[in-house]
Amino acid sequence: MQTSQTPKVELTPAQIAEFHERGFLAIPQISTPEEVEQLRGIFDRLFAQKAGRAEGAQFDMVTHDDDDNTPQALPAIINPVNFAPELRDTIFRSNAGHIARQLLGPSVTASFEHAILKPPRYGAATPWHQDEATRVDANFDYEQLSIWMPLQEATLENGCMQYIPGTHQQDVLPHRSPKSDPKIHAIECAGGFDPADAIPCPLPSGGAVMHLGRTLHYAGPNNSDIPRRAYILAFEIPPKPSTRQRDFYWNREKQTAGLDRKRRWRKQGGILIEFGRKLRGGLWRHPSRIVFEARRAIRALLGRAT
Ligand code: NI
Repeated sequence: MQTSQTPKVELTPAQIAEFHERGFLAIPQISTPEEVEQLRGIFDRLFAQKAGRAEGAQFDMVTHDDDDNTPQALPAIINPVNFAPELRDTIFRSNAGHIARQLLGPSVTASFEHAILKPPRYGAATPWHQDEATRVDANFDYEQLSIWMPLQEATLENGCMQYIPGTHQQDVLPHRSPKSDPKIHAIECAGGFDPADAIPCPLPSGGAVMHLGRTLHYAGPNNSDIPRRAYILAFEIPPKPSTRQRDFYWNREKQTAGLDRKRRWRKQGGILIEFGRKLRGGLWRHPSRIVFEARRAIRALLGRAT
């Protein structure tokens, strides 16, 4: 996705070296106070409307997410830009794209974005996980980057990000559904690390943390009186078919209400809308993504998770 903005944030060689050594990096600013204020308004509107719910793009990460009156403890919206076109052209996107090219090289492409809300006094913790473990198709090699921006201050009290340094150098660890319940969307790392090694990353509003697909991370509950909103832009090198056998079985087991809504929506013609969005998002400009996207489309047509 192209923006009309010129990138203004440039990582220094020392920051790039720190990122590759620890698997994450915090920076004090990636957007402007004016833009962050606008984004807060957009996020509050999208979450109040539960934008994207009918197509499975809005769900709660840690409850059964039924359409009853249970309050959402960790509501999320996948690709919020599909429901608020004004998110296309932001300073955040311009700077994040530039940083992604600095960290992963010129073949990097935007892959995904995510809006997450932790409601005041009620927002749940985000379990320890590696982002790569959420990939449904384990038959590819992934090299991915997430850039996470809080839309207000992020503190230990309201659920700032926490990382375990060096974990990006390991492979994907076994994960599972919280409480071994496949109706819960989130996954959690099943072990093989010590949470006492965590480094919390409090940030000012409009700052950012960035991490690789295997860097273990967590965010605590929101014990404060203000909503904790975060906007994540994800990037990746086009995934290449893998020569090794891996199985992310914890994703195959999922039976979430959000996935049911997505399947229903796709059957009713949503699959064409999805394809149109990919074309508009510049899929055709990246021929190296075609094998990956074709497999994903086949899975979608078969009614599987993608
Ligand atoms: Ni994550």
